[in-house]
Amino acid sequence: MRTIYWEDCIKMVDQTLLPANLKILEIKNVDELIDAIRRLAIRGAPALEAAGAYGVALATRERDFEDFEKFKDYVKERAELLANARPTAVNLAVGVERVLKRVLESSSIDEARKIALKEAEEIAEEDITRNKLMGGFGAKLIEDGDTILTICNTGSLATVEWGTALGVIRSARLEGKEVRVFACETRPLNQGSRLTTWELLQDGIDVTLITDSMAGIVMQKGMIDKVIVGADRIVRDAVFNKIGTYSLAVLAKEHGIPFFVAAPLTTFDWTRSMKDVVIEERSADELRYCFCKECRTAPEEVKVYNPAFDPTPLKYVTALITEKGVVFPPYEREVPKILKLK
Ligand code: MRU
Repeated sequence: MRTIYWEDCIKMVDQTLLPANLKILEIKNVDELIDAIRRLAIRGAPALEAAGAYGVALATRERDFEDFEKFKDYVKERAELLANARPTAVNLAVGVERVLKRVLESSSIDEARKIALKEAEEIAEEDITRNKLMGGFGAKLIEDGDTILTICNTGSLATVEWGTALGVIRSARLEGKEVRVFACETRPLNQGSRLTTWELLQDGIDVTLITDSMAGIVMQKGMIDKVIVGADRIVRDAVFNKIGTYSLAVLAKEHGIPFFVAAPLTTFDWTRSMKDVVIEERSADELRYCFCKECRTAPEEVKVYNPAFDPTPLKYVTALITEKGVVFPPYEREVPKILKLK
């Protein structure tokens, strides 16, 4: 399933309505896109890269301009707002900056509009291709009969089409391997229970839903062979991914279970380290209520801490699965080699 595409405007699956409704949202300007990103109608690092790219194409079409310099200033300003809509996944800014660069190199408004859309389409296509490559490399790490634990949603919905960690699982299945998945619910916004189980059931892949706090017992009982997760940003000492990933990594180490991270090279931000990354903190109401004001889950006045991501130090990561191959430690030596192939 294609999550995001262009048809006179940006069209995307509204992920807030799944699994109850499959609805396509039409996004006609940058403000609507920023709102969709903030409320997670579109989400997942690679999908955000495509959204950022298409968003700059949208910015070039939002208004009529006579003056090319004023047009470029306007697009730059819109691009900056878009790139900062969510701070943790580096891919959003990567998608925005790549298209913005093409706009600023253009020599007329007409050319900039055409080039921006072409570049955004290329980014979306590249995402599909690299996910399948990553899937092929990652599938080699999976054995027939494996049970894999995952968190959040890293499938078609989190990318343009195939998926990163779920893409690896899909590719293993295509190779004829029987794979079972345990999906963590992923509180508070339940990307695991709402999106991952929905995607896997559609593919006919055996999936069992657990709450996040059940990860320990399933590992302790020997029910999990491997953990595979995605990433929002990989810096030189950690992998930032959905909140709860760090706990899974520590548990996996304790139980001797391999812990893999699947992510494209655009998710690597190797010049930075853990302390440089802003972890998005989301609304307290995500914990005080369960999706709507009718379902209160905590006292209105309770203090809340709601970080959306956590850093997992690289010492917990068995290998990084990328579209250029699988990278094993020592990462400080091996990652720069693979980044050169970008
Ligand atoms: O807050 P979200 O739903 O955007 O968080 C998404 C994740 O943490 C994913 O695991 C990550 O983006 C990798 S998606 C292929």
